[in-house]
Amino acid sequence: MDITATNLVKSFKDNHVLRGLNLEIREGKITVIIGGSGSGKSVLLKLLIGLLPPDAGAILVNGQDITKLSELALYPVRRQFGMIFQTGGLLNSLTVGENVALGLREHRLVPPDQISQIVHEKLALVNLADKENEMPANLSGGMKKRVSIARALTLNPRVILYDEPTAGLDPPMAENIDSLILNLNQQFGVTSVIVTHDMISAFKLAHMVNMLHDGKIVASGSPAEFRESHEPIIHDFIKRK
Ligand SMILES: Nc1ncnc2c1ncn2[C@@H]1O[C@H](COP(=O)(O)OP(=O)(O)OP(=O)(O)O)[C@@H](O)[C@H]1O
Ligand SMILES: [Mg+2]
Repeated sequence: MDITATNLVKSFKDNHVLRGLNLEIREGKITVIIGGSGSGKSVLLKLLIGLLPPDAGAILVNGQDITKLSELALYPVRRQFGMIFQTGGLLNSLTVGENVALGLREHRLVPPDQISQIVHEKLALVNLADKENEMPANLSGGMKKRVSIARALTLNPRVILYDEPTAGLDPPMAENIDSLILNLNQQFGVTSVIVTHDMISAFKLAHMVNMLHDGKIVASGSPAEFRESHEPIIHDFIKRK
């Protein structure tokens, strides 16, 4: 799915988070968004998936402005999106398998007797077939991220938005998540949007990198263009990593 955001504005009282932001997300590509803490990356993802309304601007999803849609009309669009939240978003009182089944139960897209089959299949895709009956508390951080990816996959999304998928993971586990994201993109053509602080993973995965600063995308280019940039803002951000 192609997504184009134009002139997005979003404030919380006098906190002007997005100030006329433009962003292009291309079908089948991996788009990475980088930017400092508190710059508005998570807010931007929530706008893109229609979880928060912008104050102004348009978000075209395959040409249709989703900011103009009613909650009901937004529903079939949102169903094509998967979101991996920054905090994982697993319910600790449910098993891994029950967590993965949540979206399927909520959306009632498949008969109940098919749910467990789909749960097995998606857990196998993220290499956690043997953890279905575990409680989330017994999993490592990377495993929890993978469970949350498996949960997003149950609805066969065309777009997946990942908020800091490798944050807090050791390098091998981060690499493991990167491979999974790349695999889903290459094998199933999932359009992917990744918010990250992890420049190694940004440069490895991205077709296009976008830098969010002062409420706007101030730079957009290939990983090579970013690496070679002499723009102070980009240079300083990358150098610190
Ligand atoms: N629901 C909300 N209500 C009020 N303010 C909010 C809300 N969500 C986010 N903010 C504010 O918007 C700003 C941007 O927050 P956001 O979570 O998007 O930052 P971020 O770039 O994702 O940061 P980090 O890298 O630390 O995750 C912050 O100042 C935050 O306090
Ligand atoms: Mg965030």
